[in-house]
Amino acid sequence: MAKISTNISEAQALLEKGELVAIPTETVYGLAANALNTEAVASIFEAKGRPHFDPLIVHLYGKSQLNELCQNIPDVFYRLYETFSPGPITYILKKKEIIPDLVTSGNDTVGIRFPNHPLTRELLFESGLPLAAPSANPFGYVSPTTAQHVENQLGKRIPYILDGGPCSVGIESTIIDLSTGTPKILRLGGLALEEIEEVTGKIEVSTHSSSNPQAPGMLSSHYSPGKKLMIGNIEELLKTHSGKSTAIISLSKTFEGIPIENQKVLSPSGDLKLAAANLFKVLRELDKENIDVILAELMPNIGLGPAINDRLKRAAH
Ligand code: TXA
Ligand code: MG
Repeated sequence: MAKISTNISEAQALLEKGELVAIPTETVYGLAANALNTEAVASIFEAKGRPHFDPLIVHLYGKSQLNELCQNIPDVFYRLYETFSPGPITYILKKKEIIPDLVTSGNDTVGIRFPNHPLTRELLFESGLPLAAPSANPFGYVSPTTAQHVENQLGKRIPYILDGGPCSVGIESTIIDLSTGTPKILRLGGLALEEIEEVTGKIEVSTHSSSNPQAPGMLSSHYSPGKKLMIGNIEELLKTHSGKSTAIISLSKTFEGIPIENQKVLSPSGDLKLAAANLFKVLRELDKENIDVILAELMPNIGLGPAINDRLKRAAH
Protein backbone atom coordinates (compact mmCIF):
# COMPACT_ATOMS: atom_id res chain seq x y z
CA MET A 1 0.00 0.00 0.00
CA ALA A 2 1.13 3.51 -0.80
CA LYS A 3 0.71 6.32 1.69
CA ILE A 4 -2.08 8.62 0.50
CA SER A 5 -1.65 12.14 1.79
CA THR A 6 -1.77 15.85 1.02
CA ASN A 7 1.64 16.56 2.54
CA ILE A 8 3.79 18.28 -0.07
CA SER A 9 7.08 18.29 1.87
CA GLU A 10 6.93 14.54 2.29
CA ALA A 11 6.37 14.15 -1.45
CA GLN A 12 9.26 16.48 -2.16
CA ALA A 13 11.62 14.59 0.18
CA LEU A 14 10.84 11.31 -1.58
CA LEU A 15 11.35 12.82 -5.04
CA GLU A 16 14.68 14.29 -3.96
CA LYS A 17 15.77 10.80 -2.87
CA GLY A 18 14.94 9.43 -6.33
CA GLU A 19 11.67 7.77 -5.30
CA LEU A 20 8.37 7.79 -7.20
CA VAL A 21 5.38 9.87 -6.14
CA ALA A 22 1.96 9.87 -7.78
CA ILE A 23 0.81 13.45 -8.29
CA PRO A 24 -2.57 14.99 -9.03
CA THR A 25 -2.98 17.14 -12.12
CA GLU A 26 -6.08 18.71 -13.61
CA THR A 27 -6.06 16.06 -16.39
CA VAL A 28 -5.16 12.72 -14.78
CA TYR A 29 -2.85 11.54 -12.00
CA GLY A 30 0.82 11.26 -12.97
CA LEU A 31 3.56 8.95 -11.74
CA ALA A 32 6.41 11.35 -11.06
CA ALA A 33 10.16 11.19 -10.65
CA ASN A 34 12.97 13.72 -10.88
CA ALA A 35 13.41 14.00 -14.65
CA LEU A 36 17.15 14.56 -14.33
CA ASN A 37 17.73 11.39 -12.29
CA THR A 38 18.04 8.52 -14.77
CA GLU A 39 17.63 5.79 -12.18
CA ALA A 40 14.48 7.37 -10.80
CA VAL A 41 13.11 7.70 -14.35
CA ALA A 42 13.93 4.05 -15.00
CA SER A 43 11.79 3.05 -12.06
CA ILE A 44 8.78 4.80 -13.62
CA PHE A 45 8.99 2.47 -16.62
CA GLU A 46 9.38 -0.48 -14.29
CA ALA A 47 6.43 0.40 -12.06
CA LYS A 48 4.13 0.93 -15.07
CA GLY A 49 5.42 -1.95 -17.14
CA ARG A 50 5.88 0.64 -19.88
CA PRO A 51 8.04 -0.01 -22.95
CA HIS A 52 11.10 2.20 -23.20
CA PHE A 53 10.18 3.46 -26.66
CA ASP A 54 7.28 5.49 -25.23
CA PRO A 55 8.66 8.87 -24.03
CA LEU A 56 7.61 10.75 -20.89
CA ILE A 57 6.28 14.28 -20.39
CA VAL A 58 8.28 16.64 -18.18
CA HIS A 59 6.23 18.81 -15.83
CA LEU A 60 7.39 22.28 -14.83
CA TYR A 61 6.17 25.13 -12.66
CA GLY A 62 6.81 27.87 -15.20
CA LYS A 63 8.61 28.92 -18.35
CA SER A 64 11.65 30.31 -16.49
CA GLN A 65 12.90 26.70 -16.24
CA LEU A 66 12.67 26.17 -20.00
CA ASN A 67 15.98 27.59 -21.15
CA GLU A 68 17.83 25.03 -19.09
CA LEU A 69 15.97 22.12 -20.73
CA CYS A 70 14.96 23.16 -24.27
CA GLN A 71 16.32 25.01 -27.29
CA ASN A 72 15.03 26.71 -30.47
CA ILE A 73 11.76 27.56 -28.76
CA PRO A 74 9.46 29.12 -31.39
CA ASP A 75 7.37 32.26 -30.83
CA VAL A 76 4.14 30.32 -31.14
CA PHE A 77 5.09 28.50 -27.94
CA TYR A 78 5.02 31.75 -25.98
CA ARG A 79 1.66 32.73 -27.43
CA LEU A 80 0.18 29.36 -26.48
CA TYR A 81 1.85 29.46 -23.07
CA GLU A 82 0.41 32.88 -22.21
CA THR A 83 -3.06 31.74 -23.21
CA PHE A 84 -3.24 28.15 -21.92
CA SER A 85 -0.55 27.40 -19.35
CA PRO A 86 -0.78 26.24 -16.69
CA GLY A 87 -3.35 23.93 -18.24
CA PRO A 88 -4.10 20.74 -20.19
CA ILE A 89 -1.63 21.20 -23.06
CA THR A 90 1.78 19.57 -23.65
CA TYR A 91 4.36 21.17 -25.93
CA ILE A 92 6.87 19.08 -27.88
CA LEU A 93 10.09 21.10 -28.08
CA LYS A 94 13.72 20.50 -29.05
CA LYS A 95 15.52 19.27 -25.97
CA LYS A 96 18.90 20.10 -24.53
CA GLU A 97 21.47 17.50 -23.59
CA ILE A 98 20.68 17.75 -19.86
CA ILE A 99 17.47 15.72 -20.32
CA PRO A 100 18.29 12.01 -20.10
CA ASP A 101 17.62 9.96 -23.26
CA LEU A 102 15.49 7.62 -21.20
CA VAL A 103 12.94 10.42 -20.65
CA THR A 104 12.57 11.07 -24.39
CA SER A 105 13.19 7.52 -25.64
CA GLY A 106 16.18 8.79 -27.53
CA ASN A 107 14.22 11.49 -29.39
CA ASP A 108 15.79 14.93 -29.71
CA THR A 109 12.49 16.44 -28.55
CA VAL A 110 10.80 16.52 -25.16
CA GLY A 111 7.20 16.92 -24.04
CA ILE A 112 6.81 19.83 -21.62
CA ARG A 113 3.70 20.56 -19.57
CA PHE A 114 2.75 23.09 -16.91
CA PRO A 115 0.01 21.31 -14.98
CA ASN A 116 -2.71 23.30 -13.32
CA HIS A 117 -3.39 21.69 -9.97
CA PRO A 118 -2.68 23.70 -6.81
CA LEU A 119 -0.96 20.88 -4.88
CA THR A 120 1.28 19.89 -7.75
CA ARG A 121 2.04 23.49 -8.60
CA GLU A 122 3.17 24.01 -5.03
CA LEU A 123 5.28 20.85 -5.20
CA LEU A 124 6.88 21.99 -8.49
CA PHE A 125 7.50 25.46 -7.09
CA GLU A 126 8.91 24.36 -3.74
CA SER A 127 11.13 21.59 -5.11
CA GLY A 128 12.19 23.37 -8.29
CA LEU A 129 12.39 19.90 -9.84
CA PRO A 130 11.39 19.06 -13.39
CA LEU A 131 9.11 16.04 -12.91
CA ALA A 132 8.91 13.34 -15.54
CA ALA A 133 5.46 11.81 -15.24
CA PRO A 134 3.35 9.55 -17.42
CA SER A 135 -0.20 8.83 -16.39
CA ALA A 136 -0.17 6.76 -13.18
CA ASN A 137 -1.73 3.57 -14.59
CA PRO A 138 -0.23 0.24 -15.57
CA PHE A 139 0.74 0.33 -19.25
CA GLY A 140 -2.27 -0.06 -21.54
CA TYR A 141 -4.96 0.70 -18.97
CA VAL A 142 -7.11 3.85 -18.73
CA SER A 143 -5.62 6.75 -16.81
CA PRO A 144 -6.46 7.33 -13.11
CA THR A 145 -8.54 10.33 -12.11
CA THR A 146 -8.53 9.80 -8.33
CA ALA A 147 -5.89 8.85 -5.74
CA GLN A 148 -7.82 5.65 -5.08
CA HIS A 149 -7.55 4.63 -8.75
CA VAL A 150 -3.78 4.94 -8.43
CA GLU A 151 -3.73 3.00 -5.17
CA ASN A 152 -5.83 0.19 -6.62
CA GLN A 153 -3.44 -0.42 -9.50
CA LEU A 154 0.00 0.78 -8.43
CA GLY A 155 -0.26 0.98 -4.64
CA LYS A 156 1.98 -2.04 -4.15
CA ARG A 157 4.73 -0.58 -6.33
CA ILE A 158 5.04 3.02 -5.16
CA PRO A 159 5.51 4.62 -1.73
CA TYR A 160 3.42 7.76 -1.94
CA ILE A 161 0.33 9.28 -3.55
CA LEU A 162 -0.28 12.99 -3.22
CA ASP A 163 -4.05 13.25 -2.94
CA GLY A 164 -5.50 16.17 -4.84
CA GLY A 165 -9.05 14.87 -5.13
CA PRO A 166 -10.75 13.97 -8.42
CA CYS A 167 -9.20 15.46 -11.58
CA SER A 168 -11.27 18.31 -12.97
CA VAL A 169 -10.51 17.78 -16.68
CA GLY A 170 -10.36 14.00 -16.56
CA ILE A 171 -8.63 13.17 -19.86
CA GLU A 172 -4.97 13.59 -20.75
CA SER A 173 -3.51 16.81 -22.09
CA THR A 174 -3.63 17.82 -25.74
CA ILE A 175 -0.16 17.34 -27.26
CA ILE A 176 1.11 19.87 -29.77
CA ASP A 177 4.38 19.39 -31.64
CA LEU A 178 6.27 22.67 -31.94
CA SER A 179 9.61 21.10 -32.83
CA THR A 180 9.27 21.50 -36.59
CA GLY A 181 8.31 24.60 -38.59
CA THR A 182 4.60 23.75 -38.57
CA PRO A 183 2.64 23.11 -35.35
CA LYS A 184 0.87 19.76 -35.33
CA ILE A 185 -1.51 18.09 -32.87
CA LEU A 186 -0.20 14.65 -31.86
CA ARG A 187 -2.88 13.80 -29.31
CA LEU A 188 -6.36 15.22 -28.83
CA GLY A 189 -6.97 15.92 -25.17
CA GLY A 190 -8.25 18.18 -22.44
CA LEU A 191 -7.85 21.41 -24.39
CA ALA A 192 -10.22 21.64 -27.36
CA LEU A 193 -8.73 22.00 -30.84
CA GLU A 194 -10.92 25.04 -31.59
CA GLU A 195 -9.40 26.91 -28.65
CA ILE A 196 -5.86 26.17 -29.81
CA GLU A 197 -6.69 27.19 -33.37
CA GLU A 198 -7.78 30.61 -32.12
CA VAL A 199 -4.11 31.15 -31.31
CA THR A 200 -2.36 29.19 -34.06
CA GLY A 201 -4.81 29.30 -36.93
CA LYS A 202 -5.85 26.07 -38.67
CA ILE A 203 -3.68 23.23 -37.48
CA GLU A 204 -2.95 19.71 -38.70
CA VAL A 205 -4.08 16.84 -36.51
CA SER A 206 -1.84 13.83 -36.87
CA THR A 207 -2.77 11.20 -34.33
CA HIS A 208 -2.29 7.49 -34.87
CA SER A 209 -3.62 4.50 -33.06
CA SER A 210 -1.24 1.74 -34.02
CA SER A 211 1.26 0.21 -31.64
CA ASN A 212 3.91 1.73 -33.84
CA PRO A 213 7.04 2.83 -31.99
CA GLN A 214 7.63 5.36 -34.79
CA ALA A 215 4.58 7.16 -33.53
CA PRO A 216 5.11 7.62 -29.82
CA GLY A 217 2.22 8.99 -27.89
CA MET A 218 -0.38 7.30 -30.00
CA LEU A 219 -0.29 3.73 -28.81
CA SER A 220 -3.66 2.09 -28.75
CA SER A 221 -4.67 1.03 -25.31
CA HIS A 222 -6.80 -1.98 -24.62
CA TYR A 223 -9.70 -1.88 -22.28
CA SER A 224 -10.36 -4.72 -19.93
CA PRO A 225 -9.83 -8.17 -21.47
CA GLY A 226 -13.04 -10.06 -21.96
CA LYS A 227 -15.11 -6.96 -22.53
CA LYS A 228 -16.25 -5.77 -25.89
CA LEU A 229 -16.64 -2.04 -26.37
CA MET A 230 -18.55 -0.78 -29.40
CA ILE A 231 -18.97 2.83 -30.43
CA GLY A 232 -21.70 4.37 -32.52
CA ASN A 233 -25.37 5.17 -32.42
CA ILE A 234 -26.80 3.41 -29.37
CA GLU A 235 -30.27 2.78 -30.84
CA GLU A 236 -28.60 1.03 -33.78
CA LEU A 237 -26.21 -0.97 -31.61
CA LEU A 238 -29.05 -2.05 -29.33
CA LYS A 239 -30.76 -3.83 -32.23
CA THR A 240 -28.12 -6.51 -32.09
CA HIS A 241 -26.71 -6.14 -28.58
CA SER A 242 -29.24 -5.85 -25.82
CA GLY A 243 -29.46 -7.88 -22.68
CA LYS A 244 -28.54 -8.17 -19.02
CA SER A 245 -24.79 -8.18 -19.54
CA THR A 246 -24.85 -5.13 -21.85
CA ALA A 247 -23.91 -1.69 -20.57
CA ILE A 248 -24.27 1.75 -22.10
CA ILE A 249 -22.15 4.87 -21.96
CA SER A 250 -24.11 7.81 -23.30
CA LEU A 251 -23.68 11.54 -23.29
CA SER A 252 -27.03 12.48 -21.80
CA LYS A 253 -29.79 9.92 -22.43
CA THR A 254 -30.94 6.61 -20.98
CA PHE A 255 -32.37 3.79 -23.10
CA GLU A 256 -35.02 1.11 -22.74
CA GLY A 257 -34.24 -2.57 -22.48
CA ILE A 258 -31.01 -2.25 -20.50
CA PRO A 259 -30.84 -2.42 -16.68
CA ILE A 260 -30.64 1.15 -15.41
CA GLU A 261 -27.61 0.35 -13.23
CA ASN A 262 -25.73 -0.59 -16.42
CA GLN A 263 -26.36 2.79 -17.97
CA LYS A 264 -23.77 5.48 -17.47
CA VAL A 265 -24.76 8.98 -18.48
CA LEU A 266 -21.64 11.14 -18.77
CA SER A 267 -23.46 14.46 -18.45
CA PRO A 268 -27.25 14.80 -18.15
CA SER A 269 -27.03 18.33 -19.58
CA GLY A 270 -24.86 17.19 -22.49
CA ASP A 271 -21.83 19.19 -21.32
CA LEU A 272 -18.77 17.67 -23.03
CA LYS A 273 -16.35 18.97 -20.41
CA LEU A 274 -18.29 17.20 -17.69
CA ALA A 275 -18.49 14.11 -19.92
CA ALA A 276 -14.69 14.07 -20.27
CA ALA A 277 -14.27 14.45 -16.52
CA ASN A 278 -16.49 11.39 -15.93
CA LEU A 279 -15.23 9.13 -18.73
CA PHE A 280 -12.42 7.15 -17.10
CA LYS A 281 -14.30 6.75 -13.82
CA VAL A 282 -17.21 5.27 -15.75
CA LEU A 283 -14.96 2.88 -17.70
CA ARG A 284 -13.53 1.68 -14.39
CA GLU A 285 -16.99 1.24 -12.89
CA LEU A 286 -18.11 -0.88 -15.81
CA ASP A 287 -14.98 -2.96 -15.50
CA LYS A 288 -16.05 -4.14 -12.04
CA GLU A 289 -19.50 -5.34 -12.89
CA ASN A 290 -20.85 -8.38 -14.58
CA ILE A 291 -20.75 -6.93 -18.05
CA ASP A 292 -19.57 -8.35 -21.38
CA VAL A 293 -20.55 -5.68 -23.88
CA ILE A 294 -20.35 -1.92 -23.56
CA LEU A 295 -22.12 0.26 -26.10
CA ALA A 296 -20.69 3.77 -26.16
CA GLU A 297 -22.28 6.71 -27.89
CA LEU A 298 -20.19 8.62 -30.41
CA MET A 299 -19.83 12.18 -29.06
CA PRO A 300 -20.52 15.25 -31.22
CA ASN A 301 -17.55 16.55 -33.15
CA ILE A 302 -17.04 19.77 -31.15
CA GLY A 303 -15.11 20.85 -28.04
CA LEU A 304 -13.85 17.83 -26.13
CA GLY A 305 -16.04 15.45 -28.19
CA PRO A 306 -13.24 14.31 -30.53
CA ALA A 307 -10.88 13.69 -27.58
CA ILE A 308 -13.53 11.57 -25.82
CA ASN A 309 -14.17 9.63 -29.05
CA ASP A 310 -10.42 9.05 -29.39
CA ARG A 311 -10.25 7.50 -25.91
CA LEU A 312 -13.33 5.37 -26.57
CA LYS A 313 -11.82 4.12 -29.84
CA ARG A 314 -8.59 3.19 -28.10
CA ALA A 315 -10.54 1.36 -25.42
CA ALA A 316 -12.48 -0.47 -28.13
CA HIS A 317 -9.34 -1.54 -29.96
O1 TXA B 1 -2.31 14.96 -19.12
C1 TXA B 1 -1.25 14.36 -19.34
O2 TXA B 1 -0.58 14.59 -20.34
C2 TXA B 1 -0.80 13.34 -18.31
C3 TXA B 1 -0.48 14.06 -17.00
C4 TXA B 1 0.07 13.17 -15.95
O3 TXA B 1 0.39 15.12 -17.27
N1 TXA B 1 0.32 12.62 -18.75
C5 TXA B 1 0.26 11.68 -19.73
O4 TXA B 1 1.46 11.01 -19.93
O5 TXA B 1 -0.76 11.42 -20.32
P1 TXA B 1 1.55 9.68 -20.77
O6 TXA B 1 2.98 9.28 -20.66
O7 TXA B 1 0.55 8.72 -20.32
O8 TXA B 1 1.29 10.16 -22.22
C6 TXA B 1 2.20 11.06 -22.82
C7 TXA B 1 2.28 10.82 -24.26
C8 TXA B 1 2.96 9.48 -24.50
O9 TXA B 1 2.09 8.64 -25.21
C9 TXA B 1 4.19 9.84 -25.32
O10 TXA B 1 4.40 8.94 -26.38
C10 TXA B 1 3.94 11.24 -25.80
O11 TXA B 1 3.14 11.82 -24.82
N2 TXA B 1 5.20 11.95 -25.86
C11 TXA B 1 6.03 12.27 -24.85
N3 TXA B 1 7.14 12.84 -25.29
C12 TXA B 1 7.04 12.89 -26.64
C13 TXA B 1 7.89 13.36 -27.70
N4 TXA B 1 9.08 13.89 -27.44
N5 TXA B 1 7.44 13.25 -28.96
C14 TXA B 1 6.23 12.72 -29.23
N6 TXA B 1 5.39 12.25 -28.29
C15 TXA B 1 5.79 12.33 -27.01
MG1 MG C 1 -0.79 7.28 -20.36
